[in-house]
Formats: sequence, C-alpha cells, structure tokens
Amino acid sequence: MDIMGNFGGDADGAWIFGYGSLVWRPDFPFIEQRVAAIEGWQRRFWQGSTDHRGVPSAPGRVVTLIESAGELCHGVAYRVESAVYEDVMATLDHREKGGYSLESVALIYDGSRGSGPDAHVYIANEHNPNYLGPAPLDHIAAQVRRSRGPSGHNVEYVTRLAEALRHMNAHDEHVFALEQLVLKQ
Ligand code: BEZ
Repeated sequence: MDIMGNFGGDADGAWIFGYGSLVWRPDFPFIEQRVAAIEGWQRRFWQGSTDHRGVPSAPGRVVTLIESAGELCHGVAYRVESAVYEDVMATLDHREKGGYSLESVALIYDGSRGSGPDAHVYIANEHNPNYLGPAPLDHIAAQVRRSRGPSGHNVEYVTRLAEALRHMNAHDEHVFALEQLVLKQ
C-alpha cells in the first residue's frame, strides 16, 4: 500500500476509515482498501480501554481523534458492500462499544483534498466515561507498559499500529515517539 495510490473504486458500497486497530486488524469483509487521510484531526492515545487493552480497574490507552485544524491523520479506508454494511457496522459497534461514536468524515486520496467519498469513523470524544485525555508521553508509555486486556497487551497495540503506519509510509510523531518509549528497557 502507498499513501499516493490512485483511487479506483466504483460507486457501490460504503466506506469505513480506520486509524487504530482497524489499520492492521479490520476483521470484517471488504471489497477494497485504500490508504487514505482525513483532514482536521490528529490521532492521540487519549482514550482509556477497559475492554480490549486494559480492564476496568486498570485501563489501557488506545487512540481516538482530536480536532486539529489543518492536520492530516493517515489510516486505511475500507469499502464494504452495501448488502453487508449494516451487519458489519453492527459487529463493529459491538466491538468498539467502549465510548466511541460513529461520525462521518471526508476521505482524502492522492494528497488531494476534497477528492474522496465520505466514510464512517469511530471517535471517542471527551464526554465519554473512558476518556483519559492528554498526559505527558512518558506517563502514557508507563500506562501502556503495565496494561493488558482481553485483546492482548497494550504494548502490542502501540507497536502494531506503528509498524502498520511505517509500512504505509505514513508518519505520525505521536505514535512513533510512544513506540520508542514503550520499547525502552
Ligand atoms: C479504528 O479506526 O481503527 C478505530 C479506532 C478506535 C475505535 C474503533 C476503531
């Protein structure tokens, strides 16, 4: 995959934009996938995870999107067939029930703003009960290093996301700096 890949989809189906675990583990049927970006958002490890990478008594940290004018957040857009879209969204709503709600965003392909269709994206805003908000990066790293939940260790979430972004040639300083810290001995 490459950020600059050409958009070659037809009009059928609907799009889901992944910027967290959906980047490396979509776990649903799709008919096309594209590296894409959305504008006006940045990815941050500011959401607590009590059901995947932590537990209620010791939440881990996972990503959400924070509004940030002019910023681009790179991820992967998946086109899902219309006939199965509702089922896919029902499954994802269940999987991502820990404080996320569904929003609509415009996809950017080929670095060209306004070029792509709209997509659904999961965003956990500051009003959800699991929201943790900003913290110094070394505090976030310490929390990640000590957290584990039903989906596995929190460190794995950070490193898999960082690896997937590198593979797409998508730079994200927040993710890459956190990866360095969580891997430090
Ligand atoms: C994702 O886009 O990968 C995602 C992030 C947070 C919750 C659900 C999905």
